[in-house]
Amino acid sequence: MSSALSMPTYDQVINAIRSAGSSNEHYFGFPERSDGLYLQQDPEEYASFVHFMINQVKPAKLSLEIGIASGGQTKFLRDYWRAEKTIIVDIGQHEKFPHWQRIRPMVNTDIVCEIIDDSHSPSVRERLKPYFGKVDFAFIDGDHSYRGLRQDIFLAKDLMMPGALMVLHDTAAVYDCKRVFDDLTRSKDFVLVRNFQQRFGISVWKLLQVRRPPNAFNRWSGLGRL
Ligand SMILES: C[S@@+](CC[C@H](N)C(=O)[O-])C[C@H]1O[C@@H](n2cnc3c(N)ncnc32)[C@H](O)[C@@H]1O
Repeated sequence: MSSALSMPTYDQVINAIRSAGSSNEHYFGFPERSDGLYLQQDPEEYASFVHFMINQVKPAKLSLEIGIASGGQTKFLRDYWRAEKTIIVDIGQHEKFPHWQRIRPMVNTDIVCEIIDDSHSPSVRERLKPYFGKVDFAFIDGDHSYRGLRQDIFLAKDLMMPGALMVLHDTAAVYDCKRVFDDLTRSKDFVLVRNFQQRFGISVWKLLQVRRPPNAFNRWSGLGRL
């Protein structure tokens, strides 16, 4: 059991998601709020994930988020589950990204590194080197292309410590992300811990070990064994 910040019921989490507001009522099925979080999540699926985090995942010392859009998810999760420190990477081009300036001060974590740049850029990896091997939780929801997501996983693999959890979003709804999901089921380094798959797909993986560290070809192409 984690030392959660609060222990809401599943229904309370769903209600909190709905009242936090989505980024598109028509697409996500719950209203936008001008002062809201602009969540890009399915309420039931995301509530199942958050409830799992509250009840079964110990607090993180150093978390990583690749792809934050408004940062609403980054905030929401940390209202319920403790992440002492957080690294943010986002290219800053999402239409809801301007909300990050408003939401950022409300995120219950110490943002130790914030990089607004392409996660695939070698200079981003250079800036992240001080954190290599130290991340115990990663949430990856950035580039949704096959190679782009794989590049992010190779980057996360450098950053994560063995035993760390890695969460991928859209591994049911986006064809390329589903292909990466299938690749991961054949990985010897990752094992699937939970799969919340009501609509978009939120899959939770554990890094067991790093048998071979990602090489320059893996990073450049996104190809090779995960
Ligand atoms: C689907 S949105 C993230 C949604 C957010 N995680 C949430 O749950 O509300 C994808 C985000 O990834 C960012 N992104 C896409 N490609 C990227 C890249 N190569 N490097 C960094 N960020 C990227 C986009 O700018 C966008 O903010």
